[in-house]
Amino acid sequence: MIFIVICVKFFHYIMTLPIETIFYDLESYNQLQSYLLQTKPSTVFVLVDENTHKHCLPILKNHLQYDIQTIEIPAGESFKNIETVQKIWQNLTDLGADRKSLLINLGGGVLTDMGGFVALTFKRGMKFINIPTTLLGMVDAAIGGKTGIDFNDLKNQIGIIAPPEMVLIDPTYLQTLSARELISGMAEVFKYGLIADENLWKKLMDFDGNHIDPEIIYTSAEIKKNVVAQDPFEDGLRKSLNFGHTLGHAIETYFMTKSNSQRLLHGEAIAIGMIMAVHLSYQTQGFAAAKMDEIKSVLLKFYTPIQLEENDIRDILNLLKHDKKNFKNQINFVLLESISDVIWDCQVSEIQIRNAIAYYLKS
Ligand code: GLY
Repeated sequence: MIFIVICVKFFHYIMTLPIETIFYDLESYNQLQSYLLQTKPSTVFVLVDENTHKHCLPILKNHLQYDIQTIEIPAGESFKNIETVQKIWQNLTDLGADRKSLLINLGGGVLTDMGGFVALTFKRGMKFINIPTTLLGMVDAAIGGKTGIDFNDLKNQIGIIAPPEMVLIDPTYLQTLSARELISGMAEVFKYGLIADENLWKKLMDFDGNHIDPEIIYTSAEIKKNVVAQDPFEDGLRKSLNFGHTLGHAIETYFMTKSNSQRLLHGEAIAIGMIMAVHLSYQTQGFAAAKMDEIKSVLLKFYTPIQLEENDIRDILNLLKHDKKNFKNQINFVLLESISDVIWDCQVSEIQIRNAIAYYLKS
């Protein structure tokens, strides 16, 4: 019996990555300081972009009693590529980085994804810490160890999953963001309420669009951490984090490529995708109609409805067929039987997708 328990525990250990450590608020800087004093990195590098250099690095420096070297990269998804990675590798080389150096990634999802990838590949791996400065980063991108870069037109095509030493979440950095970016990041928070925590969803129904209670950030980060701890390599449960992303990602890409159209921020597209995914859940999983309408009306308070004509819908359906989450030529959806009762790898018909789009478009 004892032998079986030991075997199961060992199997569990080798199948999982270490559980991520997340520290919150001002206490996180004390933890960082202790970590630095204990581990004594040969050099501490802070990776910033032009925005976080100006707005966030001064905040970090205020809390850190340690010599740092700063490496700056341009901001934006268009720089999330091998050329920028090469520049960071070159900077690290010029500044004498070694395997005992530490890289602190201070920025949004593009920066923490790319910084993690650089750290994991430089001299076969140096340690890194993520300090997300966007809401999306705090509740999603900086947690879970997904690192990487885009390749040609394919998002996150090259990368590795490996956790940072720690993630520091200080909502102070959110003061540097626009209202639109904040609401975009809130889409992932709404997602956690829908897939994992009905109490969080209920709390969000009172959200006024202005004040973001730090508690909802901490709750969301812990949900993500726990999901990743159970399924670090996305064999099952972690797929639930893609709720709203199948259609949302196709819509986001469509608006990116369509000339003369407004751009949608990631969260704005995901909010649309979630409304459609709830309708697919209603059509195929018995999700309650009244709850579906409630979700739509809550989300539409924050995410202005967009119009889609038949030619837009046709192009979005084509893009869906190229989504990276598809497997064996099937379009896979994450759906809900009820709030916090999630199922993944669901297939639906084109007509059901069209019904879901029509539901979204109906005012
Ligand atoms: N952003 C989804 C995940 O980390 O799995």
